[in-house]
Amino acid sequence: MEGEYIPREHWGSRTAFIMAAGGSAIGLGNIWKFPYITGVYGGAAFVMWYLFSILMIGLPVMLIEYAIGRRTQRSPVGAFKALAPGTFYWLIGAMGVLAGFIILSYYSVIAGWTLAYIFKALFGGFAGFHSPEVARQAFEAYATHPIRPLLTHAVFMFLVILIVYQGVKKGIERWNSILMPLLAVIVIVLAVRGITLKGVEAHLSALNGLKFLFAPDFTKLTGNGMLVAMGHAFFTLSLGMGAMLTYGSYLSERENLIKSALWVIVMDTAFALLAGVAIFTTVFALGFQPGSGPGLIFNVLPAIFAVMPGGGIMGVLFFLLLSIAALTSAISLLEVVTAYFVEQRGWVRHRAAVVWGIAIFLLGVPPALSFGVLGNIKLLGMTLFDLFDYLSFKYMLPLGGLFMVLFTIIRWKPVSLLQELRKGGSALRISNGAALALLIVSALFVAITFIAGLFGKN
Ligand code: TRP
Repeated sequence: MEGEYIPREHWGSRTAFIMAAGGSAIGLGNIWKFPYITGVYGGAAFVMWYLFSILMIGLPVMLIEYAIGRRTQRSPVGAFKALAPGTFYWLIGAMGVLAGFIILSYYSVIAGWTLAYIFKALFGGFAGFHSPEVARQAFEAYATHPIRPLLTHAVFMFLVILIVYQGVKKGIERWNSILMPLLAVIVIVLAVRGITLKGVEAHLSALNGLKFLFAPDFTKLTGNGMLVAMGHAFFTLSLGMGAMLTYGSYLSERENLIKSALWVIVMDTAFALLAGVAIFTTVFALGFQPGSGPGLIFNVLPAIFAVMPGGGIMGVLFFLLLSIAALTSAISLLEVVTAYFVEQRGWVRHRAAVVWGIAIFLLGVPPALSFGVLGNIKLLGMTLFDLFDYLSFKYMLPLGGLFMVLFTIIRWKPVSLLQELRKGGSALRISNGAALALLIVSALFVAITFIAGLFGKN
């Protein structure tokens, strides 16, 4: 019921919020996807454009989500209902909840693979990988298996449900404050190990990995690469479906939203770059190819861990890093769904987390099997996994983000956004007109990403 008082949990501190929002942002997108798209689209020039996209698209949408969440103290559907009663803007929130279902269902499948690979690394399962080809075959045997990927998908969803079940403070906040520092330690260890690797042959060097990542060659930057970078800016910051809006709704007015947003962006970018350093120094030192695409993590790296000094431990740490990063992101996806049912449908949290967590697990079963037994089922020419990825990543997130910016321009008004951003001691010196202009520019960027994405091949 609208306007009814709902007792709401709040984060224990600003750090807790930043850890949780950072935990959501830092995920498979940073450690699996960012390095491989950087590899495919040519390295440093791509990285620079990506950083620019983060500022042009990521920052404004993130601020809008935080501000709407905190202002209304509601999760997406309720938030739009509160700000624009009697309109259809709540559909933006509804699309977010739906996106939560879809994204988490297949995100958990990949996260399950990473869980499986921790154990593979732990029990010497990489030992026989003399080449990426051998590693690839082993990976395929696993991913196409009719049962094993389902088991790991189930284990992962179980962990996600467990944490969301415990609530905002005792669950999400507590686990993020434990797991995020651990994640930072692991990624730093891996990056240092990568940088200090000696090339296995005279002409090979870890430093070439750093060059690849940081020395730009703009002739390598393609239009398609630019679009991929812009789309990724959304995904990596968990924007466009109300996850950050929901986390923002657990904030009090004391917090400075702009500072928090900058922290989250810096952390997210730092993790992506550190993961890139860890991966590319290693890849280059051992003479492998950086541009091998999505399989970089599951084919190339295990083959590298099999031969590199200290590779056993590094393999375990690497897949632990991926699993933890995925877990802290997945929590935010289930939280959007859970918060909706708690707030708008009057469910108790425990029931909502368990019931919808299980539903999401079930929804993930077909895409999980689409690498193997269900591989022949194609919709719109895509496997179920690709379809889920495509629908959410290419349509729902950019569209959700675009609608949020438009909502702010047209209905909520930039002045209300500024008012919210100025709480918590931020001396934001920007006029309403300038804010409007910035919002229009960022709406254009988002619109371009979306429209061009419809026609591009990626
Ligand atoms: N940001 C996460 C990553 O980089 C993915 C993610 C988590 C996400 N929650 C989200 C993406 C919400 C979009 C919306 O892996």
